[in-house]
Parts: sequence; C-alpha cells; structure tokens
Amino acid sequence: MEFMEVLGIRRSIRYFDPDRPVEREKIQKILEAMRVASCAMNAHWLRAIVVYRDELDDETLEALKLPVAGVIMELAPVHIYCYADLSVLQRDHGASPKQLIDVGALTPSHGWSHRFVDEFVWPQLLDPLSKSPEYPVAVAFDTGGAATQGLLMAYNEGLGACWTAFNFLVAKEAFDVPDDWIPHYVMNLGYPLESREAGGQRPRPPFEDLYSEGKVGNPFRRDEAVVAELEKANMIQAPAPLPDRKEEVRDLARKLGLPE
Ligand SMILES: Cc1cc2nc3c(=O)[nH]c(=O)nc-3n(C[C@H](O)[C@H](O)[C@H](O)COP(=O)(O)O)c2cc1C
Repeated sequence: MEFMEVLGIRRSIRYFDPDRPVEREKIQKILEAMRVASCAMNAHWLRAIVVYRDELDDETLEALKLPVAGVIMELAPVHIYCYADLSVLQRDHGASPKQLIDVGALTPSHGWSHRFVDEFVWPQLLDPLSKSPEYPVAVAFDTGGAATQGLLMAYNEGLGACWTAFNFLVAKEAFDVPDDWIPHYVMNLGYPLESREAGGQRPRPPFEDLYSEGKVGNPFRRDEAVVAELEKANMIQAPAPLPDRKEEVRDLARKLGLPE
C-alpha cells in the first residue's frame, strides 16, 4: 500500500473477526517496523510481548481487561503488550552512541567522538536523565514513535488495530514482566470485521489550533491545495460518520452477540 494511504486508512478498529488468526509473519513485520524506528541515542527502550488471546486462560483474559477495552481485547486474536525498559541507559552506559560513531552515523564534523561520549554525553546528559523524574516522559516519546511504526505496518498488511489500556498488574504476573519495565498500552490486532473505513476518518481539532509557525499564537496556516493533494492520495479521507455507519454497527453487534 502507498505510504500516504496507510496513514489515511489507519483508524482504531474495534470489531475484529474473532476467529481469523493473524499470520505470524505479519506479526514479525510489525515488530520489525518498531525496531527500525528512530530512537534517541539508538538506545531502544521499546519492549513488546506478543500474546495470543486463545492461549490465555479465561480468568487471565478477564483480569487483563479494563472497562474501556474489554470487548476489544476479547475480539482481537492477538495482543501486543508494549513497555519501556527503563534499565536500558544504565546497562548501556554510553555504548549505543559510540556504536553510532563507529558506523559513521555520528561524525567528528558534528563534534562526536568516544571521548565526547565519555566526558560529556554519558556523565552530563544520559546518566542524570536516567535518574531524573522526567526520564519516563522522555522515554515515552521514543517508545511511542516506535510503537506507531508497528501500528502502521499492521494496516499495510491488511490488518486492523486498536491501542488500549490494560491491567498492568495482572500482565506483570502473567507475562513475567521485569520490574524495570513500565507499561504503555496493548496493541489489539486482527482482521477487521467492520469495513476498513470503519465509519470514516475520526474527528480531529482544527489544524490551526494544533500547530504554530514561528511562535505560539501564530497558527501554521493550512493551504487548501495541499489538503486537496492529500485527499487525492487517500491520506485525508471522508470524515466520520459515513452515512451507513449506524447500520454497520448494528449488524456487527448482532453478528457478534453484543449489545446494540
Ligand atoms: C495511547 C492510546 C491509548 C488508547 N487507549 C484506548 C482505550 O483504552 N480504549 C479505546 O477504545 N481506544 C483507545 N485508544 C484509541 C483512541 O480512542 C483513538 O485513537 C482515537 O479516538 C482516534 O481515533 P482513530 O484512532 O480511529 O483515528 C487509544 C489510543 C492511543 C493512542
């Protein structure tokens, strides 16, 4: 699928075909997409645990579900639980930026050397960062980017997905999650039972309310010609609700035996 169309067709899928398994190779592609994401200092904080719903006992699945996610987790045949491993920096001790230097990605023309890492980057930036209260927030920016690449790969492979919260205390016990890992969200994954449009692209705040140019208060003005180009490339698609969405949701509920 074309890149812009993948961005456009991605929307949270909450009705999965509960009986259609996801090919293992597609799951691997999702994880591979996460791994090649940009990551600060090349440190790779994101960790993911692939769990097959049908391999969970009923009691564990029930306990993992939160009220905002229960039906989704029941319908999705695959769950990918995402975490950040906070121990990465202290274990790495500046080795990953040095690796970037060794392969010619960080170069002397930009001030990089092993000595610069030993004398400045590690002791003055990374070591204090890893001990600061801001550390989990900085890490979440990194892991969120990587996880999103995996999410987009799912749609490229014809799958649907929805991030949800989960009971992380239950997950910690059930999946042997180390103490240093902080829980993010679970990617619920499967083949959509709803149409891929899923009722249309979901509402967003106005563009100019979100992005500034030069300084806050000076909105980045949207050029309608660019919007038209993105519409043509299927990145900007018909907004929700599409005219037949109510009927679609009703039919899905009847098919799955869910409340209407
Ligand atoms: C970090 C994160 C957590 C989310 N958690 C939930 C959740 O617990 N339950 C749910 O139904 N949707 C959840 N969502 C999906 C959002 O509700 C959804 O992305 C948003 O409404 C925009 O719709 P779209 O994804 O279809 O564009 C989550 C999304 C993100 C990014």
